[in-house]
Formats: sequence, C-alpha cells, structure tokens
Amino acid sequence: MNLTFCNHHQTMPNTPDKWPYPLWIAHRGAGKLAPENTLAAFRLGASHGYRMFECDVKLSSDGVPFLLHDSTLGRTTNATQQLDAAASDIAGEHPWHTLAQLDAGSWHSRQYAGEPLPSFANIARFCLANGCFLNIEIKPTPGLERITGEVVAHNAAKLWEKAATPPLLSSFDTPALEGARAAQPQLPRALLLDTLWDGWLQAALKLECVAIVCHHTLWNEGNVAQAKAAGFRCLCYTVNDDQAAQRLIQMGIEGLITDRVDLFSPA
Ligand code: G3P
Ligand code: MG
Repeated sequence: MNLTFCNHHQTMPNTPDKWPYPLWIAHRGAGKLAPENTLAAFRLGASHGYRMFECDVKLSSDGVPFLLHDSTLGRTTNATQQLDAAASDIAGEHPWHTLAQLDAGSWHSRQYAGEPLPSFANIARFCLANGCFLNIEIKPTPGLERITGEVVAHNAAKLWEKAATPPLLSSFDTPALEGARAAQPQLPRALLLDTLWDGWLQAALKLECVAIVCHHTLWNEGNVAQAKAAGFRCLCYTVNDDQAAQRLIQMGIEGLITDRVDLFSPA
C-alpha cells in the first residue's frame, strides 16, 4: 500500500488529490440479484462491470472475520435446519468451522443452493485477484464493537499489504472505527450515518475519517458543502433509482452504493 489518505484539514505530504475509488459501488456484492454478502454475489456484480463492492463483516466466536449483514443467522442462512434446535441464532456466538458449513444461498433462490458464507479472507482474495476495490462495513455483533474494528483492520492490512489501494473501512459504530484506527491508523475510514445525529461532523473529524457515507436522502447542498469544507469525501447508500442518482451526482457525491447493478452502468 502506498497511498496516503488525509483530510484537507490535515497537512500531510504525498496526499493524492484524486479519490482512488470508483463512483459506483455494488451493495453487499450484487444487491438483491444474488444472495447478499456471498462470493456468488461478488461474481455477479463483477459480471455487470462493477469494480468496487460494499460488504458487511463481523467476527465468529473464534475471531474469524466473515461476511453477514444481520447479527442473527435466520434470514440469510439455513441455520434453523442445520444447527441443533437449542443453538443460538446469534452468528457471532458460533465458531468459524460451524458457520462455514451453512448454506447462505438457498434462502435467495434454488440457483444458489449450497452457496457458503464467505470468510473475509476469501472475499479479499477475490477482490485482489480481480483488481476490485472494497468498502468493508464493520458490522459488529452488539457488545463486540471495538474488537471487531481492531481485528478487521488487522486482517485488512495484512491481506492488502502489497496492494496499491487499500480497502475503505466504514461503520455506523464509532467504537468500531476507534478500534480500526487504533489497530491500523493508515487504513482509510468512513463514518456511516443513517441520521444526521448531533455532532456527526465533529465525530468524523475526531475519528480522522476520510469520508462520510450517508443514507442518500440525508445529503443536501448545505451539508455536502459543510462536509467537503471539513475535508471529507461524500458517499451515500443505497441508491436504486435514476432520479436519486442524478441528484446526488450533481451535488458532487463521489460514491454511490447501489443494489441495482443491473440498472446503473459503472463505466
Ligand atoms: O455501507 C452502506 C450500507 O450497507 C449500510 O446499510 O444496513 O445495508 O449495511 P446496511
Ligand atoms: Mg452494509
């Protein structure tokens, strides 16, 4: 990794003026067209021309980072059928060897039956082998916010050690971002916002983030200007219609996370 990221408010040498990431980012791999947060979804997103992906990462009980959006297994795996009736539905309470045996594709459609839950390392290798960029959303099991940030950052730094462009780490959880910063301060971070809570800009400054990723309806001319004046890149999620996309691009938003890899051409 040889890029130095910083905000305009910081004065650091060798700061690239150019944001290294593409405008279009495929949400959870390929949005809703394939089972979210699986390698199959990444392959499908890539087949639509996407070169950057967002995914959700948390820890197994033995500390292995893996992809899953929810804290629980029920919605997107076959845990109810596969595990003992008394087993916990909390994903982070299971060791990786148990999670790795689950089917994370059948819930979506028969076509994806047997698709496994991917480890973060598997997905990293896919991205690196295919020249794709990654936005890692740190999505901790409640109670494990800081340690998840630390472990994910350590794993990311190691996996991307020889890559020209590091992954972008993001989270709604400020303790997770604090953990990531403490563990690997050189990795770029973004604060995720689903509301503009009091002190959001100051929090992003304190966490030394390079970007703010808002729900797309929250951005307006005023707060984009405010965020940019403070040195942040402005990104958004989850943009699935053309009118919304045009509004955001005209405002100068530099990253749009979408489910609609079939609608928006990333070229
Ligand atoms: O990272 C952007 C977006 O994924 C945040 O919301 O719930 O889809 O993880 P969610
Ligand atoms: Mg996410």
